[in-house]
Amino acid sequence: MSSRATSAPAIKTSAPAIKRIGVLTGGGDAPGLNAVIRAVVKAGTNRGCEVIGLEDSFDGLIERDRWRKLTPRDVTGILRIGGTILGTTNRGNPFAYPVETSGGTRDYSARCIEMFHALTLDALIVIGGDGTLAIAHQFHTRGIPIVGVPKTIDNDIVETTNTFGFDTAVSFATDAIDRLHTTAEAHHRVMIVEVMGRYAGWIALYAGIAGGADVILIPEIPFDLTKVAERITAREQLGARFSIVVVAEGAKPVGGTTSVVRAACGGSVEKLGGIGARVAEDLEPLTGKETRWVVLGHLQRGGAPTSYDRVLATRFGARAVELVLDGQFGHMVAFHPPNIVAVPLEKVVGRTRNVPPDFDAIRAARALGISIGD
Ligand code: F6P
Repeated sequence: MSSRATSAPAIKTSAPAIKRIGVLTGGGDAPGLNAVIRAVVKAGTNRGCEVIGLEDSFDGLIERDRWRKLTPRDVTGILRIGGTILGTTNRGNPFAYPVETSGGTRDYSARCIEMFHALTLDALIVIGGDGTLAIAHQFHTRGIPIVGVPKTIDNDIVETTNTFGFDTAVSFATDAIDRLHTTAEAHHRVMIVEVMGRYAGWIALYAGIAGGADVILIPEIPFDLTKVAERITAREQLGARFSIVVVAEGAKPVGGTTSVVRAACGGSVEKLGGIGARVAEDLEPLTGKETRWVVLGHLQRGGAPTSYDRVLATRFGARAVELVLDGQFGHMVAFHPPNIVAVPLEKVVGRTRNVPPDFDAIRAARALGISIGD
């Protein structure tokens, strides 16, 4: 008799039946959030689950009556709309909630867990960036069955090649750079474009390459403005009397500091900004050329998601429901081209995905004569 025939039959352990799934969006908004919500609601409902939307991130589990049932009818037409129908906040960490007391913060995590059970939820899908996913991980370690979905225009979440929102932000920034080209050329000016991205240079690098920038400054490679001025002067000598400089909000000069408009306080992280103005001010005397700057700011987060982001967000949402139904909690859906996979949240929290300085897109930029400021 073969060993195969004598082996004991495999015991199938099935996860408790999932009937009610909660979903929330946390942190700054990103184009594609609604596409994920829609996918979760449709895929969940089609598998026989009820989907409950929680409002304004974890506030929906802290405050009463901040939830609503979402049916496929409720998510019709939201695929192409930016923002989030559930609302969001980046000041609502339940483990350190900002309150007007001498202590400054209060721990509402126990209340969230109580509310999760009171709403008879069987699982929670948390759509958010690094901060929100870290909160999700904390709740997972306290027994809440959670699946994460990575979101951010910054594209700086580890273990996933892309986050939705990034492509839309890059497309918008590229369009802005195209428009700035015409005015820069007409006035023979240097135009500085400050883009978002926090401590990662993905948006600056991709939009800079796509927009045909002459200089791209990113946080991962501190810059030297004399080198930037040399590049602009060399272009002038070749007859190109204008230049476009794309600078990431987190970029900083060699030996210098990042530009911060507001320090971290009361549960909010520090707010970056102002480097575009600094670069313009310091660069103008070095080149002798009239220099202007623009800050694209929150425009990069607005508007309809690109088709790429709609597809990625839809795949993330549908896969998140699969993970819930398979009982694969404490994981985040991630894009490992060409597949959407599950990675443990513990591998994600506390880390930032930066542009590697030897990344081939940087080498390609250098090969084309684009200055990276070093
Ligand atoms: O993380 C997304 C992001 O848009 C960053 O690029 C930017 O630094 C930050 O959020 C801005 O946050 P807020 O909306 O709080 O100004």
